[in-house]
Amino acid sequence: MEVKIYKDYNELSAAAAAMIIDCIKSKPEALLCFATGDTPRLAYQKAAESAIGDKIDTSGCFFIGLDEWMGIPPTNTGSCHWFLHEYLFKPMDIDPTQIHLFDALAANGEEECRKMNKLIAVNGIDLMVVGVGMNGHIGFNEPGTNINSLAHVAALDEITRTVGRKYFEDEVTIGKGITVGLKQVMETGKLLMMANGKKKAPVIKKTLEQAIGPDFPATFIRQHKNGFLLIDEEAASELKTA
Ligand code: F6R
Repeated sequence: MEVKIYKDYNELSAAAAAMIIDCIKSKPEALLCFATGDTPRLAYQKAAESAIGDKIDTSGCFFIGLDEWMGIPPTNTGSCHWFLHEYLFKPMDIDPTQIHLFDALAANGEEECRKMNKLIAVNGIDLMVVGVGMNGHIGFNEPGTNINSLAHVAALDEITRTVGRKYFEDEVTIGKGITVGLKQVMETGKLLMMANGKKKAPVIKKTLEQAIGPDFPATFIRQHKNGFLLIDEEAASELKTA
């Protein structure tokens, strides 16, 4: 794993966007997996601008969503589904046939996981972009998740449920999430983990300085052969070596 520190959120986002575009250029049929949230929003906007502006051919790529809030409809502006369409797929002009997202309204969550597992097993994820939660989660791989986990429905912990309210305009009940598993995160061709801002400084300190293990899933990135932790100076501000 490599740690890259950028001056601010704008430079961090530009770097992540460039890595997304490089992946598509070097492998036009790439499988890309994206998180949502405040952190990667600008990177996706920049990647979409670059893809359209530079006429990058994205027609052979396939896109999957990292996770979703169970029970939240895709029309809800707090859903991962809505986010990815709004900031990435619509601006990049991606055809719906090139996208697979978890169906958060599916009666059978296990079946949703099976579909995602199959897709990942057949193609292999070339590039995954993730954020990191205040409790160290990756996607909805919450503290305590087994490193060998595949896609699964997860009971969300207290911190995720509390912090998660920021995405929703109205009061919603968020109890469970559905997510690509840690094994699949660790097997990606390239893993970009992004974090910015002062509030992520203690999270990044733990990610890099705490013992690697399921108590703080983000620590596993240190074992990824092609992992990149992209952070801004604020997020790096509590590191021993920063
Ligand atoms: C969302 C996701 C989450 C977020 C994390 C950080 O799809 O996978 O794990 O990446 O909670 O969220 P932000 O970026 O809002 O701080």
